[in-house]
Amino acid sequence: MIFVTGGAGYIGSHTCVELLNAGYDVTVFDNFSNSSPEALVRVQRITGRKLQIIQGDCRDRSALIAALQQSRANAVIHFAGLKAVGESVSKPLNYYDHNVVGALRLLEAMQTCHVQTIVFSSSATVYGDPVYLPITEDHPLSPTNPYGRSKWMIEEILRDAYRSDSLMRICILRYFNPVGAHDSGLIGEDPQGIPNNLMPFIAQVAVGRREHLNIWGNDYSTHDGTGVRDYIHVVDLAIGHIRALAALKNINSAQNDQSSGCMTVNLGTGQGYSVMDVLRAYEKVSGCRIPYQIAPRRSGDIAACYADPQLASQVLGWKARFDLEAMCRDSWRWQSGNPSGYQQ
Ligand code: NAD
Ligand code: WQD
Repeated sequence: MIFVTGGAGYIGSHTCVELLNAGYDVTVFDNFSNSSPEALVRVQRITGRKLQIIQGDCRDRSALIAALQQSRANAVIHFAGLKAVGESVSKPLNYYDHNVVGALRLLEAMQTCHVQTIVFSSSATVYGDPVYLPITEDHPLSPTNPYGRSKWMIEEILRDAYRSDSLMRICILRYFNPVGAHDSGLIGEDPQGIPNNLMPFIAQVAVGRREHLNIWGNDYSTHDGTGVRDYIHVVDLAIGHIRALAALKNINSAQNDQSSGCMTVNLGTGQGYSVMDVLRAYEKVSGCRIPYQIAPRRSGDIAACYADPQLASQVLGWKARFDLEAMCRDSWRWQSGNPSGYQQ
């Protein structure tokens, strides 16, 4: 049984599909602060399987203990948390509370319930402004905002937990830029309010919910002046979690060493695309023109960021399969079929 915190969210719901399809039983623990229970109804429709749903908050240790005991989980995937970079600057305490305190309470509850395996959602944001590209896992960590620092702190807490208990099995996954949706068109990203991220914003322009895209700067030293990122299809990302669970299960404790029982792995494609590349690819698959304006740079943005994905291939046997066109096509199928997201 896999206990999935934040399982109703964007990445969590796609991971639940892959877990159920791979034969795992799943319990979702979510407070639905940034998601809809409808996502889980659809996960069950896609897979034809049931999952257990427990509404609760990760900062509530006793709720976590009760849920872990009820589910009889033997591993946890921890997605729950807040993720908006700008909001984290204006509400840092809220971010440390949900993210750092939430992770701490979860680890305490796992200890109480003798659950020793965890896969954690970290982010490429922990690297900050890249010193070199592509980014390997040993790149220096220098997050530039409270959200990124909360991820970095949780990573350190996990590494310390492992140092104190070498029977723990920990996989820290650093995601690059997750986009796209399940190819059923039934689940996808459903941001509340104005989207912060590029692809959901483009999707809402294409579907007519917003007039135009602001491109935050076209004077970066990139091939066309707009920012370059490593976009990764959310289904590839979800499959990365299944591979991480399998890799953790295969670690032989007799041969265990510091690196194998607690691994930190990039999940990206290794390929960078600019804002203009994404916009053109989206226009091609949707057949819609995406009006845009060039606006000043967004504070805190970097010119370019993409992963070295080799370690994921070596230790997880994982490689991204979907290209940019597939990411845009699946995003568009979700957005055009559900113009208002999960709201009917
Ligand atoms: P999301 O907001 O769609 O999902 C997070 C889920 O956690 C939501 O269902 C929300 O209701 C739930 N949640 C939030 N706080 C909670 C709490 N205290 N207790 C219980 N549930 C809580 O976000 P996502 O895009 O699916 O991201 C999942 C994880 O991946 C997050 O930890 C995020 O920081 C990380 N991540 C996301 C991205 C990205 O661009 N989407 C990139 C890198 C890392
Ligand atoms: C991508 C590119 C923008 C919106 C963020 C977080 C990171 C991670 C993923 C969680 C940049 C440009 C965007 C728009 C634009 N999240 N852009 N107009 O900034 O790489 O990463 O999400 O961990 O922590 O920082 O992604 O999608 O916001 O931006 O021109 O309306 O698109 O300037 O070049 P980012 P993004």
